[in-house]
Amino acid sequence: MARRVCSFCEKPEDEVAHLLAGPRGVAICDECAELAVEITGDHAFEQTSGDLLLTGVDRIITNDPRLDGPIGEGAIAVRNGRITWIGREQDLPSRYREIVTLDCGGRTVLPGFVDAHTHLVFDGDRADEFGQRMRGASYETIMTAGGGIQATVRATRAAGPDRLLEVSMARADRMLSLGTTTVEIKSGYGLETLTERHMLEVASEIGSRLPLDVVSTFLGAHAIPDEYRSDRDAYLWLIEEEMLPAVASIAEYCDVFCDAGVFSVDEARRVLAAGRRHGLRPRLHANQLGDTGGLELAVEVGAVSADHLEHVSERQASYLADAGVIAVLLPAASLSMQAAQAPARLLRDAGVTVALATDCNPGTSNVESMQFVVALGAMEMGLTVEESIWAATRGGALAVEEPDKGWLRVGAVADLHVLDTDNYLDLAYRPDRPCTWKVVKDGRVVVG
Ligand code: NIG
Ligand code: FE
Repeated sequence: MARRVCSFCEKPEDEVAHLLAGPRGVAICDECAELAVEITGDHAFEQTSGDLLLTGVDRIITNDPRLDGPIGEGAIAVRNGRITWIGREQDLPSRYREIVTLDCGGRTVLPGFVDAHTHLVFDGDRADEFGQRMRGASYETIMTAGGGIQATVRATRAAGPDRLLEVSMARADRMLSLGTTTVEIKSGYGLETLTERHMLEVASEIGSRLPLDVVSTFLGAHAIPDEYRSDRDAYLWLIEEEMLPAVASIAEYCDVFCDAGVFSVDEARRVLAAGRRHGLRPRLHANQLGDTGGLELAVEVGAVSADHLEHVSERQASYLADAGVIAVLLPAASLSMQAAQAPARLLRDAGVTVALATDCNPGTSNVESMQFVVALGAMEMGLTVEESIWAATRGGALAVEEPDKGWLRVGAVADLHVLDTDNYLDLAYRPDRPCTWKVVKDGRVVVG
């Protein structure tokens, strides 16, 4: 593959700190990004919109590894939806003063949350099942008795198209109002071609109706539907021959629930390979219920992420690190399952990139708030609050392969979360009260 070069200074990718993807195949190194926007004006960044200056920021959590820590008394200038200047307000060049200004009044700004694992398109609820689990019934027993995922499949198939969009949009809208600016959404409650495709259409509709970026994942292998219980092979054939051709144009990733009592390693390998043939990159639900080989399969196929990972040893963590597979951890699901949390510290120490996500679904994680997840990361998983915030922003962005999100630096997408506090620790310290003051998407204030 040809080496990418900065379209402005023509330095090659390996000689610059970071090469940003611009519109129409333009690439810009972060040194040149500010200049590029000035010279080319609106035209260079036609996919984005929004000019804004944020001033009076007590602290900016940038996630920029070139800086020692947060920027104090900061300002952020945004042109056409991208950050063109960031630093201490006293150093702000006067030309940026003309831009529409949002005075943050001493509050804290961090990147918008990137929720890298959700099942937010569904109908029905499973509160009764939750009640049973809190009385001691296991997830597996409920699943074997025809409840669990199958119950949501029945409700989702029965929902009319308008209803599925309405209830799912409402969830996504609440997520946005809590600071999430990019969300991954999986299918997997249709388990037949039309409903699987319809779920992904709803996901894409959410992305076009709300100022929220949606990343779509096909999860036809979420469970074997009741009608195929006696013929698993026929269901796998249906996924390969009918579902994947029907969804390939509207999904980016292919996922499989590879775990005890669900899909075996061989079955998951088959589905992911078929997904690959249709251009869908692999990710995997792995090692949630047991250590049944999902993690090793994620490594084998070069999955973008392995998600859940409650059952992981030190040695397995090193496999993930060596293969560059991102660990997407879902502490709200483990909490609801009353299971041990994934070993976040061990994974980080092994060099694995860790992301945190909600897993929003009606069975194991009826949760929409990434703030709540950040709090769990700190209080339940042994991460520091800073690590937990990083995992919910930059970690999430890496897990959905969006390198210009999840950090705040010149050239990054201006998805910003302005807290109603000057202390980012409040995200975890006061987990029951939303900390969101305003949300900025592509440089436009969309909440608050
Ligand atoms: O991520 N683990 C598999 N799927 C979901 C649960 C889905 C459900 O119970 O409806 C999860 O936890
Ligand atoms: Fe999940």
